[in-house]
Amino acid sequence: MSQSTIERSASVAARAVEVKPGAAGSSLVSPEMRQRADEWLRKFDAIYAEAGGDVSRIPWAHRKPCPSLVRWLDAREREFLRPGARVAVVGCGLGEDAALFAERGYEVVGLDACGHAVESARRLRPRMAGSFVRADVFDLPSNLMKRFDLVVEVHTLQALPPEFREPLAAGMARLLGGRGVLIAICRGRGEGEAMDPAGGPPWALTAGELSGCMASAGLGTLGPIDDFEDENRPPVRRLRGVFGRR
Ligand SMILES: C[S@@+](CC[C@H](N)C(=O)[O-])C[C@H]1O[C@@H](n2cnc3c(N)ncnc32)[C@H](O)[C@@H]1O
Repeated sequence: MSQSTIERSASVAARAVEVKPGAAGSSLVSPEMRQRADEWLRKFDAIYAEAGGDVSRIPWAHRKPCPSLVRWLDAREREFLRPGARVAVVGCGLGEDAALFAERGYEVVGLDACGHAVESARRLRPRMAGSFVRADVFDLPSNLMKRFDLVVEVHTLQALPPEFREPLAAGMARLLGGRGVLIAICRGRGEGEAMDPAGGPPWALTAGELSGCMASAGLGTLGPIDDFEDENRPPVRRLRGVFGRR
């Protein structure tokens, strides 16, 4: 482990929140969809397992929090978050975004359906190990529901085929407390632009598709959806939307 990782682990320890497994809530997917989702999750899990902690072997991992999440937080943190608010990062992968919130003093839980993702996140940040939980958005334990002031999703909606968007959004909405807010950052495509014929992942969303799946979960946009090119070379089109209960 690098010195900077150790230092970061130490600095986030104060806000680490331990979450114990809870009783299962009702599933958001049919048994057939569950099977199809599990096929994708096995593929993701194999990537985490084969990387064996070598972050450079995980195509979506960047050793740092998502830059467009950081920019949003820098600009709008006080508008949306009270000090010490509860934050859930869904599909947290190696935990970079969860650590960002812990460093800023929030009570954060990072959840991911892949056991090897959770193991790696815990290994990278042992001082907040108890804040990373294995949990599936389609089948959340009841003790995680209605608990969070902010739900953060970065590149998870885009990671599963379009048939999973609505149940993913419904699961994310289940995490929210009454006045909670959800931020979603995903790969974007223009309205009317065809999906990549090569398929995915990732499956880019239009702004209409993003707001549509959130609406199906009872969430409305809290402002325009940002449509922008990110900092990658070549740049990647992204959408960033903030949603709350209608
Ligand atoms: C493309 S990765 C992005 C990981 C991380 N957010 C990042 O930006 O590095 C998508 C993540 O979503 C997780 N995931 C996919 N479906 C999920 C589900 N139903 N419940 C929880 N996590 C899920 C995967 O295991 C994977 O870690």
